[in-house]
Parts: sequence; structure tokens; C-alpha cells
Amino acid sequence: MNRSYKKNQEFIELSQKIAEAIESVTKIDVTIMDAERDRIAATGKYLEPTYGNIGEKSAFDYCLNTGEVCVIEEVGESEICKECSSLENCIEKAEVCVPIFWNGQPIGVIGLIAFDDRQKKTILDNVEVYVNFVQKMASLLEAKYGELMAIEENKRLTQKMRSLINSVKRQNYLIMLDDDDEFKQELLKDTNESCEITFNDILSLSQTMQEVKDMAKKVAMTESSILIRGESGTGKELFARAIHNASRRSKKPFVAINCGAIPEELLESELFGYEKGAFTGANISKPGKFEIANGGTIFLDEIADLPLKLQVKLLRVIQEKEICRLGSNVTRKIDVRILSATNANLEERIKLNLFREDLYYRLNIIPIVIPPLREHKEDILYLANRFIQYFNIQFQKNIKGISKEASELLLTYKWPGNIRELENVIEFAVCLETKDEISGELIRRRLEKSYELIKNEPIAINRPESRDREREQFLNLLDKYRDLTHKEKVERICSELNISRATYYRRQKKYRQ
Ligand SMILES: Nc1ncnc2c1ncn2[C@@H]1O[C@H](COP(=O)(O)OP(=O)(O)OP(=O)(O)O)[C@@H](O)[C@H]1O
Ligand SMILES: [Mg+2]
Repeated sequence: MNRSYKKNQEFIELSQKIAEAIESVTKIDVTIMDAERDRIAATGKYLEPTYGNIGEKSAFDYCLNTGEVCVIEEVGESEICKECSSLENCIEKAEVCVPIFWNGQPIGVIGLIAFDDRQKKTILDNVEVYVNFVQKMASLLEAKYGELMAIEENKRLTQKMRSLINSVKRQNYLIMLDDDDEFKQELLKDTNESCEITFNDILSLSQTMQEVKDMAKKVAMTESSILIRGESGTGKELFARAIHNASRRSKKPFVAINCGAIPEELLESELFGYEKGAFTGANISKPGKFEIANGGTIFLDEIADLPLKLQVKLLRVIQEKEICRLGSNVTRKIDVRILSATNANLEERIKLNLFREDLYYRLNIIPIVIPPLREHKEDILYLANRFIQYFNIQFQKNIKGISKEASELLLTYKWPGNIRELENVIEFAVCLETKDEISGELIRRRLEKSYELIKNEPIAINRPESRDREREQFLNLLDKYRDLTHKEKVERICSELNISRATYYRRQKKYRQ
């Protein structure tokens, strides 16, 4: 889940060190550009902020696109210069551009730039030696890039593993592993510790999201319980992880549990642990999530689905700050901060006596409400472009942007599945696009089903008055979304009916004979 859509700070720092090292040997100014044509390191004149961007169709561009070393002996004379968008204002006299490669592809350029006649002469007298030297320095950056890519790949696999584990849990399969099983230890390490999401991973440009992020950053340092509200796919878990990592508890565990995905009997023992012999099958003693999270944070996801009996127990744990494993009468002190999340209407559930009001007040000390994507449309194209960068790397593609028609479609769509849905749509598009920008046709194809919906009357999301209505509504949606993948279907239906996944599966079992 932790994605470096942002530029990697480590890579930038190393680039700056390399630029300075080259400059100190050659006495020529250096600029390093990345694959997005951003100047990520520089010495000399280009350190000044007025020289922010690198011109289009410049020598740097040429070097990046062709992967060839490019020597400009006389700026303005070369064919390459004639195309350059910055030619009119160019203050350079000569330059040498050397590509930085990774996996055979140019991913950046190191340029030596002469700003006066002395530097120009030095460059031209030493072209061969300098190119050789700069190529060696470029290989250091290549090695760093490879290392960072390996870390990214690791994180991606971890994310896949987590999804797999979640879907295994959702289907109620149980995989038992010994506590000291090496694989289990690795799994725990990967699923919890290495997912170090920070607020920088929560991407946004809009004022609306900025305010939510600012508020979350402020409260992260407190010890108060936080209830995160928002529709499915808005980033509730992302926020929970960022809050934990920005808190004083960041070095301690972050333990997430989905209250809607686990059957009641299992959930109790998962949360509070059990002693050997507590129930049939309890052949060993096992700590619960609260004990595992001791000193850190527990994230109670889909809290609205916590059964009433467990709500009473949870309230007691919060009040007493201690837990008691099933089958034991020994109490254990625990120090855990509670973050919870829901996309359900908890206030309505309190009225229906499905959720305890006293627990609600305990959990909701600080409410954070994440708006649906349709309420911060300014972020749509920004997020889409960042996702393109990410999937370009995953699929080794080089999609440059989004066509006008596709942008319009993305902007008018209502995004019931929010940012997760946008991410899925872009993954689909990057994977299938054959041109160098995402076409409208591809996006239209992917959103077609949903467009039918937008044109029709919106589907009511209120609770049905009767069983029959509930049944009819549910079966209609199953039919409507029959062509979507299972995951998408579940997400879409849960979001439209405002129900949890657990409720979805209960209804599916009940109504689909
Ligand atoms: N602001 C954001 N920037 C980047 N990625 C985001 C953002 N918000 C959400 N995502 C991505 O969208 C997906 C869904 O996020 P997350 O799981 O946090 O949502 P959620 O609100 O917990 O959803 P659900 O209610 O369905 O559990 C994840 O892949 C996450 O990385
Ligand atoms: Mg979630």
C-alpha cells in the first residue's frame, strides 16, 4: 500500500551529492534531471529558483528520449538547440548530457553545463574524459534506483499478500500457522511494520482534503480515540496508518482488525485472545489483537458491525484499560490507542439500538470525516496522473498522460467507489492502453456500466421498509453488476446500499438460493 508516487527523497539527496562531486572535480556546473524532466539536483546558476524547469525538446530531453550522450559544442548552432523551447532565453554556452539508465531504459540525465567561455573550453578539451567520468557517476544512481525499485516491488508484493489474506479472511477460511513459524513472523513483519504510510502518501491538491489532512496531523500526536468516517475507498485505512506513524506510538505495533469480516465467535477471540482449553479446538493459548497492539495502536475497521455483546466488552476494555483472555480470569493491563472507522450511519444504528451510545462517545472523541471523491473533484486528474506514474513502473509502460476526452469522462463520473475505484480504473487503462496517452474510448468502456447508472435515477440508499424490498433491491443490484469482477461488484453494492461487506455476504447467502 505504501506507494512512492512522490519523488524519492533518498534518490534526490544522492543526486545532489553526485552533482556536487562532479562539479568539484570538473569545475563545471552540473544539473541532474529525472524522467519527468524535473531538475532534481544542480550546482551553480541553476540552483536559483528562477531556473525551475528544463525546456521542452532541450538537449536533456533529447538525451532522455534517445538514451544517447549528447554534446552541444555551440549552443544555438546545433540542430537539437533549434527545437528547444528555452532557446530564446538560454544562458548556456556548451553542454554535455549523459543518460542515467535503469534496466536498459533512460531514467534521467546528468548534464555538464558551461556558462562562460572558460568552462566551455574546459568541456570541449575534455569531452571524452568527462563523459567517461559522468557515466561512472550515473551508474551509482542506477544502482540506487534499482535498490529503490526493489523496495517498491517488495511493498507491492506485501500489498498483494495483505489483499490475499483479507480475501481469505472474508471467505472465512482459516489458515493456522505456528507462532514461531518463520513464514508467520515474516508475514507479520511485512503486513504491519513495513507499511509505513505517512501523510505524504495521502495524495491531494484540493483545499478540502488539505484541511482533513491538517486536522489529522494535529490530532495524531494526541492520545485520543479517533473515529474516521467516509464512504468506501476514500482512504480511511490510509489515514489510520498515517496517524499511527505520526504519533508517539509509531515504533510500536499498528494492528488492524476488520470487525465486519470475521464471524462473531472468532472475532471475540481475535480481539481478546484465549487460553488453552477455553473452547473446543483451543489447543494452545493465544494473545488477542489488543495484547499484540500493546504500546501501539489498534485499528477497529468497520466498527458499526461489532456485535452488541462485543461492544459491551470493548467498552469495558476502554474504561478499565485491561483485558481478560477467553477462558481466563487473569486480567492484563494494556496501553493501546484506539482508532476506528466506518462508512455506516452510526447515529442511525444507535437509534435502532444496534450500536451503544456510550461506546460511540468513547470512540468518537475526535471525528475525522473524509469527503467522497465527487466532493473534491480538483483531485481527480491529479490522482489519476500519479496513479499513471505508479502503474507505468509496475507494467513497464510509458503512458504520458490522459486525453482530453478521457479527462472529461473522469471528471463527470460520480465515483461511488471513490479513490480506490479511480485507482482500479487507471490500473486497467495503463495496462491496456497501446498509445502514449489514455484514450477516452478505454475509459468509456471501463465506466460504461456506471454511466448507465448515472443516466438513470439514483438508486435509493435508504434502508428498505420491508424484507421484500431489501431482497428485491439486493438481487437487482447483483443482476445490474453481474459483469463486474467479484471485488468490484461487492464494493459497488456495499457503497450503494451503505452496507458493510459482512452484511453483503449475509444477504447474498440469504437471498441467492
Ligand atoms: N488520498 C489518497 N492518495 C493515494 N491513494 C489513496 C488515497 N486515498 C485512498 N487511496 C487508495 O485507495 C485505496 C483504498 O483506500 P483505503 O483502503 O484506505 O480506503 P477505505 O476508506 O478504508 O475503504 P473501505 O471502506 O472500502 O475499507 C487504497 O489502495 C489506497 O491506497
Ligand atoms: Mg478500509
